[in-house]
Amino acid sequence: MEKLIVTGGTSLRGTINVSGSKNASLPILAATLLTDEQCVIRRVPDVSDTNYMLQILSKLGAEVERASGNVIVAAKDVSHETPYDIVRKMRASVCMMGPLVARLGKADVSLPGGCVIGDRPIDLHLRALQELGAVIDVKGGDVVIRVPDGLKGAEINLRGKFGPTVLGTANLMMAATLADGLTIIEGAAAEPEVVDLADFLGKMGAKIQGAGTRRIEIEGVESLHGVEHTIIPDRIEAGTFLVAAAIAAEERMTVNRIQPSHLTAVIDTLKACGHAVEIEGQKAHVTRGAQPRGTKIRTGPFPEFPTDMQAQMTALFIVSEGISTVTDTIFPERFMHVPELQRMGARIERQGNMAIVEGPSELTGAPVMASDLRASATLVLAALRAKGETVINRLYHIDRGYEHIDEKLMGVGAQMVRARA
Ligand code: EPU
Repeated sequence: MEKLIVTGGTSLRGTINVSGSKNASLPILAATLLTDEQCVIRRVPDVSDTNYMLQILSKLGAEVERASGNVIVAAKDVSHETPYDIVRKMRASVCMMGPLVARLGKADVSLPGGCVIGDRPIDLHLRALQELGAVIDVKGGDVVIRVPDGLKGAEINLRGKFGPTVLGTANLMMAATLADGLTIIEGAAAEPEVVDLADFLGKMGAKIQGAGTRRIEIEGVESLHGVEHTIIPDRIEAGTFLVAAAIAAEERMTVNRIQPSHLTAVIDTLKACGHAVEIEGQKAHVTRGAQPRGTKIRTGPFPEFPTDMQAQMTALFIVSEGISTVTDTIFPERFMHVPELQRMGARIERQGNMAIVEGPSELTGAPVMASDLRASATLVLAALRAKGETVINRLYHIDRGYEHIDEKLMGVGAQMVRARA
């Protein structure tokens, strides 16, 4: 196991580059199973979640090659049995179900394990596949899916009690590409990662309309073919670096290779806190405000404020003037970072699905524990401003979704070192 030792107080400056999106890569890699032809996917970030996904594809029988951000997958012969030991490590492996069922008419997938960001059921995924004609049996921790009479298009409302589901929409969209007839998804997720998947499937020959809205229509086709595709920039990594600049850059800092329209809610929040963000093509130039203040955020489905950015924004509120509130309506339990930030001197109180932050606080380095991907990134951000050394244990959480975050931040002036725990 590794840990990250961050020496706080240095000023960030210069340009930091954003990688391809982890959450767009995962379903797109799964979608390569929909064809027996070769797919070439560019800008796949080198993080452990994409590595797990490639291992699953390979165990299923696909030929997989990876070289400097490019991944080539050729899934000629595919098994329907996913390997439990890898699948259990990553919740996103749930999105193997749609492509396997579409391609083979059957899938055995282990139920994803518990998750520290709260309860994460898959009822909507299963209901959607059932409405397309799948028969599902959940036994011994496995989801066994069979399609006795072929998948048939249907009109399906996917909205759950916490709103739309991103991977649920991805799963259903993938399954419907090869179903017989028209599938209509009402209450679909409109996240950019869903749109990227729809673009990928469209290039493969799928007929999809409405991706990026709440209603998606998919007209099933006979077969799909191989394609080349470049993954969209990671909007959450980009947002994390924008917040890093607002926390620790004394001079203007640039976050490069972004898609600004994916970042509106985050950029608007930074501006509301008194920071200047100037967009120039694929770059965002951030100048930290002289007297940064806090604000209120509430997470919601895209284009609202992303749940994957609320923890990082909390780190900024700690060092900003006034009372801020952070409400998560999507994952109401996603506050594992709060006690760790308190150890560093933050004044935060949690009330149900809300964190109330009183700032500004002087942060002090402390040994802290990473608990999930975004919580870990938050600890790194807080550590950039803390006095002295912060030791972040269980670094594997951050390596699941941030490509070389330590090297990237050191490139703009941060001081940190990776060490064996
Ligand atoms: N939900 C259900 N039933 C379901 C599916 C979801 O009740 O069958 C609920 C969830 O419990 C949650 C809400 O619906 O309250 C939304 O969850 P969603 O299904 O959209 O989450 P996901 O698709 O499993 C993806 C991202 C997450 C991100 C969420 C929300 C990937 C691989 N993961 O998860 O990313 O937080 O959408 O935007 O795309 C991360 O990158 O750190 C991360 C957790």
